[in-house]
Amino acid sequence: MDHFELRDGALYAEDVPLSAIADDVGTPVYVYSRATLVRHARVFRDALAELKDPHIAFAVKSNPNLSVLRVLANEGYGADVVSGGELRRALAAGMKAEDIVFSGVGKTHGELQEGLEAGIGQFNIESEEEGYELAAIARRLGMKAACALRVNPDVDARTHEKISTGKRENKFGVPLDRAAEIYTALSQEDGLDMRGIAVHIGSQLADLEPLETAFGKVGALIAELRAAGCKVTHADLGGGLGVPYKAGEELPAPAEYGAMVARVTKDWDVRLMFEPGRVIAGNAGVLLTRVIRVKRGIERPFVVVDAAMNDLARPAMYGAWHDFEAVKPSGARTVAHIVGPICETGDTFAMDRECDELVAGDLAVFRTAGAYGATMASSYNSRGFVAEVLVDGDRHAVVAERIGADSIMDAERVPDWLEG
Ligand code: LLP
Repeated sequence: MDHFELRDGALYAEDVPLSAIADDVGTPVYVYSRATLVRHARVFRDALAELKDPHIAFAVKSNPNLSVLRVLANEGYGADVVSGGELRRALAAGMKAEDIVFSGVGKTHGELQEGLEAGIGQFNIESEEEGYELAAIARRLGMKAACALRVNPDVDARTHEKISTGKRENKFGVPLDRAAEIYTALSQEDGLDMRGIAVHIGSQLADLEPLETAFGKVGALIAELRAAGCKVTHADLGGGLGVPYKAGEELPAPAEYGAMVARVTKDWDVRLMFEPGRVIAGNAGVLLTRVIRVKRGIERPFVVVDAAMNDLARPAMYGAWHDFEAVKPSGARTVAHIVGPICETGDTFAMDRECDELVAGDLAVFRTAGAYGATMASSYNSRGFVAEVLVDGDRHAVVAERIGADSIMDAERVPDWLEG
């Protein structure tokens, strides 16, 4: 459920008409609903109520906006970060250092040190090489790094190949059949407090079965590690729960996920950790755009909007579907191609899409754009970076200024030796 609804024929974000935001901030602009974020955060937490004291770390990569993070920090969420930049954002937003988990296959020496110095709660290490490097830094600083070892369970998440992370050929985690040996070896390191196993098999999962299979393998590994005398007090089950991108689409509800987790992990005797991203933020945001013009096509019209693949990359990158709706639907429907202004065919949001009929100047939204939306924006075609707005009841605020093409140009330099 979200708070983007038609009222008297116009689309609102909570109590704010989207047209008012377009007037105020211009388009394209991402609009987030605080009430929706809060609702999703609570639904996910409630779904885990059967578990003893689960740790929930929002996957910052899905929406790193400081205000979004602040909303979630206020809900008691920690953060799952994958770079020094995300770490600093999470701290700046008020997330507690001990509630931060540092994931990622390529943490640099500097980032490992930064995480240690910040006093973060856990490193999810992805290789023995990273483990030894972290151990050396921690020893030098006179610290002990709390760690989970991320395993690659070789499970097909049955999602888009580019967001699948748990197959043996993927770069993530250590192979399951070497995990016990690596965990045991790293447990001997002075600088490390090996305390758990982490797993994350992919994103936008439409099916709980691959997750259950992966978790089953983690459970067996925990038992094996304990039998070998290792300490295991934590298990991080990652994120990945999918969200509906099409009206009426059915996906497993957080409650079903929570029930599955409770069943599979009931004998583990660990503190469970979670890293949800999309399920919290996805349906809490829309990308608001204005139709530049409607161009006659051979078979169908092209609706050319002022948002483009640089603002919302998912359709171009993954062939992703985002529902597209008029802000003031007239009731007339049509079939059209929805495209942005960028000079490549990949800048297509939808082909042959049945949608509201629109004319130049009309406003429309791409839905379910709150996760992996603004954060994946680029400035391609010198279009600048899209703005972001947060709505709360009847008020709204710009929570990320638009960064114009000229500001980006200002950061560039032409060396003297090119003169002349
Ligand atoms: N934990 C780890 C270690 C991850 O790599 C990810 C996402 C998450 C948690 C959060 O997963 P979620 O709950 O959001 O599914 N840009 C792509 C999605 C990439 C996901 C990367 N990792 C997209 O737009 O679909």
